[in-house]
Order: sequence, then C-alpha cells, then structure tokens
Amino acid sequence: MPSVELTALDADRIPRHVAIVMDGNGRWAQRRGLPRTDGHAAGEEALLDTVWGALDAGIRYLTVYAFSTENWKRPVDEVRFLMGFNERLLMTRRDELHAKDVKVQFLGRRDWRVPRRVLKRITETEDLTRGNRAMTLSMAFNYGGRAELVDAVREIVRDGVKADKVDERTIRRRLYDPDLPDPELMVRTSGEYRISNFLLWELAYSELVFTDVLWPDFRRGDLYAAIDEFQRRDRRFGGLADPDEG
Ligand code: IPE
Ligand code: IPE
Ligand code: MG
Repeated sequence: MPSVELTALDADRIPRHVAIVMDGNGRWAQRRGLPRTDGHAAGEEALLDTVWGALDAGIRYLTVYAFSTENWKRPVDEVRFLMGFNERLLMTRRDELHAKDVKVQFLGRRDWRVPRRVLKRITETEDLTRGNRAMTLSMAFNYGGRAELVDAVREIVRDGVKADKVDERTIRRRLYDPDLPDPELMVRTSGEYRISNFLLWELAYSELVFTDVLWPDFRRGDLYAAIDEFQRRDRRFGGLADPDEG
C-alpha cells in the first residue's frame, strides 16, 4: 500500500476514531539480524509519527494496541523489556504529548501483573493530560477484548442489574472508557489478518485495513493510505447503500 499525502484525503470524511494493532516489531528486528526487543524500540518513532500525523489530520481518538493480555506468554525477558519500554516512553514523551494538547489514557487491566512503577507512570500521565482536548490517545495495555467484556459483566452483576434490564447500553457504559466512540477504522500492520482480542465490542462495524508494512516502518503516510482506503469503502451497517450514490 503506497504512502499517501494528507492533501489527497477528503477532509470531510476523516474518521473520528482510528484503532491500530502495532504488529511486526519482532520480524522487523529478525530481518536485520537484531534481537526482537530492538524492533519494539524502533516502534517508538513509528508511534510518535503516527500520533502527530493523526493530530494533523484531525483524528479525535487514536487507540493503539501496545500489550495484550496474551502477551504475558512471551519470554520473561521480552515481557520485562516491554514493561520498561512503555514506562520510559511515558516518561520521555508525556511532556511533548501534553504540549500538543493530547490526552493520554490507558485501556486494560491494572492488575498485579503490571509492575507498580509502570502503573504509577500511567496514573501520572493520565493526571497530567486529563484536561487535554486536541486528541485522545488510548494505549491498550494489558488489554484484552474478552477481559474487557468479562470486567463489564462482573460490574453488571455487582450492580445487581436485572436480566431483562440488560441491553447494549448496559454493557457499553461499563467498558473501560464508556465515552470512547467506536472506531470507524482499524488498521493492522505486518500482514496478519486477525483481530487478536483487540476491541471486540467496539470493532463490530469498523472498516478493517491490513497492510504489509511492519510497525517500525509505519509512518503518517501509511496512516493516510489506510484512511484513503477507508474513504473508498461503502459502509452500510446492515442497511442498504445510499440509493443516490448507486
Ligand atoms: C508487536 O510486534 C508488538 C507487541 C505485540 C508487543 P510483535 O512483537 O508481535 O512482532 P512480531 O509479530 O513477532 O513480528
Ligand atoms: C497483537 O499482536 C497485540 C499487540 C500488537 C500488542 P500479537 O503479535 O500479540 O498477535 P498474534 O499473536 O499475532 O495474534
Ligand atoms: Mg506479532
């Protein structure tokens, strides 16, 4: 998928919320004869360029998959690296993000498996950027779509909601961020065609765009290419296409 300029996009149809599965770091490193962790490190530049590119495009919500509830299965050294990496990323980048009016928040389970100092950085960053308005950057971290739904169900039961009172709003209100609109577009890098437990509820009607680019090579032009593809799609939501456009 060749990279696209922002000016080539229809400015009136920029998706409000874009979700990205940042995949392919390990393969990027392996192809260079480097340890997998170098691939994660190289993903930082990709993330920042994508964030600034999203801001320039007027995207209001960007959600990125940084660590899944299944990623704990990886070798301890890689998990440890990823924990430290995300902690450092917050420390070194949060002032820049704050200066650009980006609200940073975390979606996921804040359980005992996440080291305490990482949780501390998360809370500090959320507190610092809570009032920011330009864009919300959600980091899905120790996130699983099934875990999110299990957590929502637990809350519904705890709240004593009667079975026949449960509807979609009952669930939506108990997702990790009830105010987050569903993503219009989900992008996955590295040529894998799957969801891998990302945003199961929220992606119900999202357009899915897959690219072979490995995450560390991803730049804003690749984000715009995905939006360009999105703008060519015909979204129907189970109804029929607009007859005027036929
Ligand atoms: C994505 O890259 C980053 C995380 C899952 C944390 P991978 O580490 O999955 O890279 P590949 O898929 O093995 O190439
Ligand atoms: C999904 O990628 C999780 C993140 C990008 C954080 P994985 O690399 O973990 O997914 P699978 O194992 O290929 O499904
Ligand atoms: Mg992967």
